[in-house]
Amino acid sequence: MTPRFVVLGPGAPRFRSWRVPARDSPVGGNRPVRFATRCGSNILTVADEAGAAAPLVPDSPTLKALRDAAAECRACDLWRTGTQTVFGEGASHAHVMFVGEQPGDQEDIEGRPFVGPAGRLFDRALADAEIDRRTAYVTNAVKHFKWVARGKRRIHQKPNAAEVAACRPWLDAELAAVSPQVLVALGATAAQALYGRSFRVTQNRGRLVESPLAPSATATVHPSSVLRSDNREEEYEALVEDLRFIAALVNS
Ligand code: URA
Repeated sequence: MTPRFVVLGPGAPRFRSWRVPARDSPVGGNRPVRFATRCGSNILTVADEAGAAAPLVPDSPTLKALRDAAAECRACDLWRTGTQTVFGEGASHAHVMFVGEQPGDQEDIEGRPFVGPAGRLFDRALADAEIDRRTAYVTNAVKHFKWVARGKRRIHQKPNAAEVAACRPWLDAELAAVSPQVLVALGATAAQALYGRSFRVTQNRGRLVESPLAPSATATVHPSSVLRSDNREEEYEALVEDLRFIAALVNS
């Protein structure tokens, strides 16, 4: 989908309007996009700055209030092709929060993070590191599934910086609500969202990162990178090793 810039709204100099597909249009993958007319009700105003979801975040919210508000999020265009917002889940005052990139195909359908193939590998690695997922909070930097159609399959696409920035207020609100002792980025997208664009997971995985976001912060690889690896067993063991370090931080 290629939304087109149409007009700079007078009185709203930091906002732009885009022509957007009608709510029920067959948007997805490389199928054709039907654009709403400028006079129609589907002209969407998108904040042209980081944190477009910010106005939707309730004050001093519970996780349930956040989840309900996020279900209506239209801060970037991913809601058009995603089935639903996939909000974080887990213990409301978890000591450890894991942040992935974005929901995958199965997560998009079930509405829960890390329940697909990468999630199953993550669960196994957590168990091997003696971390009980039920005591953790698991979420994503971006809360809608971004994909393109290839035949009948929906193929994951990496979210861009604008999508990560638009979704950021939800992640900040989850961090504020859960207030974890230990914050863990899973993979580069989450790590760069949390610790800055120059952060390299390959160089800094399994080490403490100085961050104002949590008393202890760190990063490891994304579980899906283990699934894709030619050295799956070795990569899996390295992930478990990082998770053991995280378990020690949680228990310290
Ligand atoms: N990958 C992610 O980053 N998050 C999920 O929830 C599933 C797969």
